[in-house]
Amino acid sequence: MNVKTKTVYVCANCGSASPKWSGKCNNCGEWNTLSEEIVSKSKKSGRRQPAADAGPVRLADFDSNSVQQISTNIGELDRVLGGGIVPGSVVLVAGDPGIGKSTLMLQMAVMVSSGIPGDIIYSAGEESGQQIKMRAERIGLNCSDILILPENNIDIVLQHLYTKSNGLLIVDSIQTAYTDNLESFAGSVSQVRETAGMLLKMAKTTGNSVFIVGHITKEGSIAGPKMLEHTVDTVLYMEGEKLNSYRILRCIKNRYGSTNEIGVFEMREKGLVEVKNPSMFFLTGREEMVPGSIVIVSMEGTRPILIEIQALVSRSSYGTPQRNSTGVDNRRLSMMIAVLEKRAGVLLGMSDVFVNLTGGLKISETSIDLGIVVAMASSFRDKPVDDGVVIIGEVGLGGEVRPVSLLNRRLKEAFDLGFKHAVIPKIKKESVKPPKGMRLTEVASVSEALTILL
Ligand code: TYD
Ligand code: MG
Repeated sequence: MNVKTKTVYVCANCGSASPKWSGKCNNCGEWNTLSEEIVSKSKKSGRRQPAADAGPVRLADFDSNSVQQISTNIGELDRVLGGGIVPGSVVLVAGDPGIGKSTLMLQMAVMVSSGIPGDIIYSAGEESGQQIKMRAERIGLNCSDILILPENNIDIVLQHLYTKSNGLLIVDSIQTAYTDNLESFAGSVSQVRETAGMLLKMAKTTGNSVFIVGHITKEGSIAGPKMLEHTVDTVLYMEGEKLNSYRILRCIKNRYGSTNEIGVFEMREKGLVEVKNPSMFFLTGREEMVPGSIVIVSMEGTRPILIEIQALVSRSSYGTPQRNSTGVDNRRLSMMIAVLEKRAGVLLGMSDVFVNLTGGLKISETSIDLGIVVAMASSFRDKPVDDGVVIIGEVGLGGEVRPVSLLNRRLKEAFDLGFKHAVIPKIKKESVKPPKGMRLTEVASVSEALTILL
């Protein structure tokens, strides 16, 4: 076998390789992400050879009905997967270490078992079979049908898989997986990329579905799942604060369904439990008539979710006031502070501003702008907003309140949870259909909203 060896410098952030070391990655611009890797490749591996009979096929000749999703029997997981597991698809489940990825995979393996025609194999690189069994027993799962393969060598894992079809393989985790084709150590950028590529090829040729678990680190120092995002069909991120019990499963890419969908779970003593009504969940514990507290409605995928925004504006005791937010983009917050100052005369220049989305959800939707602005003004003036009100609207730099998408769905969710009054942008009368009994107040600008609400 012809073996070639060469040294390359691979970026842990984007996975691009360059022949020379430099402090900054030429491709993605990140600093200190390049690390040395010795790549040896036998001629056998490497680029896929085209199949002899591969030729162009008329689009009309493909069967569009052939994608049959298999329900995992976990509703919140099906939601983010776009209905269920697609046979032959590859899903990446990424998240901080200890967030609950292995727990979710084990629960899925058990819940889906009757729906998968082939074998369910759990390739465990981080835990022993005994440990997995102990965990399963602790959370009350009957795993008798699941096959455990305590193996990090993907070549061996694939030997088992190529003889099977229509099954399910869980690889936990990609950071511990390696192939003998490469000399670099497990977890290195080239190993992660190569093993994922091999898994993908296996999935597409055999029809076995694959779930790949990948750890992410804040520093991005370990070859991360980020660079696998292009390779796989679906990317799910598991988010949440360690000290908080809820877990959000967020879909950021899906070749088989809509993205931006989220699933909400709670980590309990007996594993992950679905949260079927997230709005109720995120609003529990809300105190009444507190200055700075506002309820907004955000569309997360196809589902409206009600969340409380809390703002705390207090006199700054340092020269430079602090501006801090959790769950909201800091730049968006700075913009809202500027709008509030310039367009509504609420002067926050000498104040510290803290904004927090309760429950720890991260929201990038602009429909929450007006809620943020009102929450800050409410805290600044120490005046609460009536707690039966929801606030919906995007805010522009001119202080104008702009329309948002899917207003009727948002209003219905708010009404169902007992909010009888909504403050919304000015819109065409015929396009809004509020639930019977809901009062609407249309506002054109931030200052108008503040006059009405505070
Ligand atoms: P785990 O699934 O091992 O995380 P990951 O695979 O993402 O690294 O989850 C580990 C954490 O979850 C651990 O801190 C304990 C907690 N946990 C529970 O609270 N309840 C449970 O039933 C289980 C299995 C784990
Ligand atoms: Mg794990």
